[in-house]
Amino acid sequence: MIYLTRRERFNAAHRLYRPEWDDEKNLEVFGKCSNPNWHGHNYNLFVTVKGEVNPELGFVVNLKTLGEIIRAEVTEKLDHKNLNTEVDFLSGIIMSTENLAIRIWDQLEPHIKQLGCELHCIKVIETENNFVEFYGH
Ligand code: NI
Repeated sequence: MIYLTRRERFNAAHRLYRPEWDDEKNLEVFGKCSNPNWHGHNYNLFVTVKGEVNPELGFVVNLKTLGEIIRAEVTEKLDHKNLNTEVDFLSGIIMSTENLAIRIWDQLEPHIKQLGCELHCIKVIETENNFVEFYGH
């Protein structure tokens, strides 16, 4: 078993808040990320897959194909968007990095399987100090 990671990037806006709370309570719980006028991040997404090396080709999966799938299914849908309001596969959640990683997993997993390998980890870096890793349900 060998692990292979592809990075893709996107820029997006979000807000951490509970709609039933007022701005003061949201600020108390979520801090500056609850700013009612949104804020943005330059996200880095690392998608790690695992499998066996194809002896004929020398790779687990074609990185060009993997990159195309990540861009088509995830980053092109997120790039320069408001994650709270504009992305169908992110509806109904608090727009945290944790929930973002879980939904990206769900979005990508069926496509990764079709490539003949397995999804191992979704890592989302929100800032240089904060990142999340999700290893599946
Ligand atoms: Ni934020």
